[in-house]
Amino acid sequence: MKTPIRAGIVGTGFAADLHADALRRCRDARVEMVAGIDKLDAFCGKWEVARGTNDYNVLCRDPDVDVVVVCTPTFIHRPVIEAAAAAGKDIICEKPLATTLEDARAAVKAADDAGVRLMYAEDWCFAPILRRAEEIVKEGALGRILYVKAKEVHSGSHSEFARKIEYCGGGSLFHIGCHPINWVRHLFGQEVVEVVGKTSGGGSKNFVHKDYEGEDWGVAIFTFEDGGQGFVEGNYITQGGMDDTVEIYGTEGALKVELTLGSPIHVYSKVGYSYSVEKLESQIGWTRPAVDELWQLGYPPEVEYFIGCIRDGKEPMVGVRGQDGLASMEVAFAAYESARTGRTVNMKEFREKNK
Ligand SMILES: NC(=O)c1ccc[n+]([C@@H]2O[C@H](COP(=O)([O-])OP(=O)(O)OC[C@H]3O[C@@H](n4cnc5c(N)ncnc54)[C@H](O)[C@@H]3O)[C@@H](O)[C@H]2O)c1
Repeated sequence: MKTPIRAGIVGTGFAADLHADALRRCRDARVEMVAGIDKLDAFCGKWEVARGTNDYNVLCRDPDVDVVVVCTPTFIHRPVIEAAAAAGKDIICEKPLATTLEDARAAVKAADDAGVRLMYAEDWCFAPILRRAEEIVKEGALGRILYVKAKEVHSGSHSEFARKIEYCGGGSLFHIGCHPINWVRHLFGQEVVEVVGKTSGGGSKNFVHKDYEGEDWGVAIFTFEDGGQGFVEGNYITQGGMDDTVEIYGTEGALKVELTLGSPIHVYSKVGYSYSVEKLESQIGWTRPAVDELWQLGYPPEVEYFIGCIRDGKEPMVGVRGQDGLASMEVAFAAYESARTGRTVNMKEFREKNK
């Protein structure tokens, strides 16, 4: 397809800002239009976008939009994907893919039936630090991978939609644990066959966030086809900034990554300064400010990659396709079933039951 690829962003909140910034850095793309129901003028002004609409259907049907970027709350992913697919547009969709398995399947089917690309925006798959870790693993430095432990944890979501399961699909394991779940799947490149889960329970049972319907602490342990294990955590009870880490253990070695709090800059300040890392409220005392946080978390390389897929007519890699978003949701929901029943969930049976 000829460049620049013209993007239409749906949503004007936190994730929309990440995509607008990443698209601005991408040589072969530009933001053509934005659809939003609030802060539309301010968003268009900030990112210098000339055209805005309150109706995402208008954006999806616009002949000058090549790819629709879905940055709405998770319960509004499926309808936007369906509208974009019906208009024959490629789609980049934020995580998690949907709030229910039914919606996720419908979204994947809509894109398949229309013959458009549904690209699952899992930034961890593009984070330069994790790409380097992956290269080292692929070179064989750690031997056969036995066990991967990964987490995304912070003090709670900025979005009001994260409080209700109807809007976001689940608690911390689903909403932010989806990053490590998907990345560990991407690294192993195999089917998950068994899942065990435990959560704080949601609502009044939560550790801290009694006003969140979903859990504020959740873990999933899952087994791959070759017996390898993934152990993933997503929680909203962690103070001190967003803490994303990965540990990989193999027959010949081990590897550890500090994705968010491992900046090479160490600052000590008695008076503080404006910003260091996501979700860290105070910059007083010792801090380690991110150098380019969006880059570090993978957003610009992710957008560059997806735009390249459209430009060059290529399919996205395993880990960032619509069906990967669906498969990661299945792991999180299986962990919820395990937490409820106290049993190990067999994924073949789970998929059969939830068809
Ligand atoms: N990849 C990441 O690291 C990351 C980070 C944050 C959010 N997300 C995901 O991005 C999505 C959005 O989250 P957010 O944090 O930006 O939420 P947000 O609350 O900051 O923003 C949501 C935006 O969607 C808009 N919106 C709601 N209904 C709409 C409609 N019908 N048409 C157009 N716009 C509409 C809202 O007005 C708001 O601007 C969620 O699925 C979330 O999980 C991903």
